[in-house]
Amino acid sequence: MGIESGDIAAGVTLRLLARADAGALSAAYVDNREHLRPWEPRRPESFFTEAGQRERIDSQLRSYSDGGLLPLVFEAADGRIVGTITLNAIVRGAFCSSFVGYWVAADQQGRGLASAALERVCRIARDTVGLHRIEASTLLGNTGSQRVLAKCGFEPIGTAPKYLHIDGEWRDCRLFQRILHDHDPVL
Ligand SMILES: CC(C)(COP(=O)(O)OP(=O)(O)OC[C@H]1O[C@@H](n2cnc3c(N)ncnc32)[C@H](O)[C@@H]1OP(=O)(O)O)[C@@H](O)C(=O)NCCC(=O)NCCS
Repeated sequence: MGIESGDIAAGVTLRLLARADAGALSAAYVDNREHLRPWEPRRPESFFTEAGQRERIDSQLRSYSDGGLLPLVFEAADGRIVGTITLNAIVRGAFCSSFVGYWVAADQQGRGLASAALERVCRIARDTVGLHRIEASTLLGNTGSQRVLAKCGFEPIGTAPKYLHIDGEWRDCRLFQRILHDHDPVL
């Protein structure tokens, strides 16, 4: 998949994750540790190190090469990484779907970054990856993320009990989907 970089706000570019991002990404996760804690799985300490991020990036880029994952980062003009958005578990055939996940740095919230990135990813998923559908899940109280999804045309599916292990517990989640096109899948 060839993915073109593009601006999602003044001075912020959405682009493919790269191996050289390990330092900037570990710094971003350290800076945003408390901000992200309530919304993410418990992370081992290695997650917050450059070596840990390099290992994770290598694994993500292998999955990208295999067509199973699309990992993108938000890069600020000063080289900081201020968010990520990922199409996880890309499945073809009769499902032709993926699960999207994203976060934005605490000091960059409210600039429209998540909405712009999600809209761009939906376009890439439809036009470049050829997906029929994208699914998203939020914790019941994550009104910010629910607003982002609604703005980008995601519709609620329902509530799934104990759906994700977040911040140390199995949590109920609200599920959403956006249908991208209705063409027949390649079977
Ligand atoms: C949720 C999150 C991704 C939003 O990112 P963002 O770049 O600030 O979102 P946007 O600027 O695109 O906001 C889009 C809309 O959501 C609204 N919004 C954002 N955060 C909100 C909040 N906490 N409460 C209510 N509305 C919120 C904005 O006001 C905006 O609405 P508007 O256009 O009608 O004014 C960000 O707060 C974040 O990373 N949170 C922690 C991690 C997380 O929750 N990830 C998603 C897991 S499902």
